[in-house]
Amino acid sequence: MTKRFGDQVVLHDFDLEIYPGETMVIMGGSGSGKSTTLRLMIGSLIPDEGEIWIFGQNLCDLDEGGMNEVRKKFGILFQSGALFNSMTVAENVALPLMEHTDLDPEIIDIQVKIKLELVGLREHAEKLPGMLSGGMKKRAGLARALALDPRVLFYDEPSAGLDPVTSAQIDQLIIAMSKHLGVTSIVVTHEMDSAFAIADRMAMLDKGRILKVETRAWYERLRDLPRDHAETLTTDEQLIRQFLRGEAEGPFTNRESGQGLATALFGSDSGRIRVQ
Ligand SMILES: Nc1ncnc2c1ncn2[C@@H]1O[C@H](COP(=O)(O)OP(=O)(O)OP(=O)(O)O)[C@@H](O)[C@H]1O
Ligand SMILES: [Mg+2]
Repeated sequence: MTKRFGDQVVLHDFDLEIYPGETMVIMGGSGSGKSTTLRLMIGSLIPDEGEIWIFGQNLCDLDEGGMNEVRKKFGILFQSGALFNSMTVAENVALPLMEHTDLDPEIIDIQVKIKLELVGLREHAEKLPGMLSGGMKKRAGLARALALDPRVLFYDEPSAGLDPVTSAQIDQLIIAMSKHLGVTSIVVTHEMDSAFAIADRMAMLDKGRILKVETRAWYERLRDLPRDHAETLTTDEQLIRQFLRGEAEGPFTNRESGQGLATALFGSDSGRIRVQ
């Protein structure tokens, strides 16, 4: 698919296949198009060209009713947790069940307890979101995303802003969801520790283009490749390697400081500055 916002092409010939039950991590720098990708996948944006197939249906062909049916099989964990602040944790988790099912209140209550137990928050059911820490909010958001027993879970930056231990706990929860519940997980992140902990496969996105879709083992090998071997890599691979290692110098940054600034200063690449 291709997605534009005005003149800006945000995703360009984007092509990605996600297998049932796998955890796919989509990574990339800020502004590379990760969140846009997620919003397209959940049907909150439509592509300018191309198709998005899920459960044998093209999302772009569905009307609002059809889209709602598909969305019931999705669980979405937004970056902020996106909880309703005036409702308790338990009420937040119950909300999708009240909106999308006609289950009795007692059954909903049991479902909510199970989901809160899964994320380790059962004892905090009656708290308001404002009384929770960042990590607890994330877990509450995950419990709510799990409310309808989704087949696919979407996570946008699940560990952003969390301390390393809490972040590792969220990673463990993501792994547990796929292992025990068999859900397919699509995780957007630029936290490399987390990406390597949870991924079956990884996709590197750069300026709206997918550079590589490969197994975690492939990405690990690339990350750990000694510098003197790195010269044999393609430019894309060198760029990915720099990103994975979090290094300040390399093809990922050189083009930013070269072309980007020249374009900003002179309106085109013709006045390109070379820093010796
Ligand atoms: N609704 C919108 N209207 C116009 N431009 C948008 C819109 N949403 C995103 N963009 C642009 O699309 C590009 C990709 O944005 P996106 O939010 O997908 O990036 P991202 O990879 O999620 O970045 P980050 O890591 O900072 O969250 C950016 O240049 C952004 O400004
Ligand atoms: Mg984003």
